[in-house]
Amino acid sequence: MPQPGGGTPGDVFTVELRPQGWSFDAPADRTLLLAALDHGLRLAHSCRNGTCRACIARLEAGRIEYRIEWPGLSREEKDEGWILPCVACARSDLVLHQPQATSLFDDPAAPASGASTL
Ligand code: FES
Repeated sequence: MPQPGGGTPGDVFTVELRPQGWSFDAPADRTLLLAALDHGLRLAHSCRNGTCRACIARLEAGRIEYRIEWPGLSREEKDEGWILPCVACARSDLVLHQPQATSLFDDPAAPASGASTL
């Protein structure tokens, strides 16, 4: 069954986080905040319902859709590319700018082979 705005269950998009250069998969039916956490990446956040704005990030490329009708952004902020990842789902591959994002791992870009350089 298609999702509102064109997403289809099973669609998975790639999100690149800048300036860190990390990336993660974002299923069409999962918010960007939760998809990032699924991959050990913690975006700044608090309320998780689109009101506090703690998660605000700039969408540099791609298309999203909100799970709520009135996310806490002005028309001007939306026009400038600001989004709220806690209530936004990917509708295409994305490039997201949120300098406050952190990783639960030392280096999420490192291969998972366990290789050491000691
Ligand atoms: S965490 Fe509050 S608006 Fe996103």
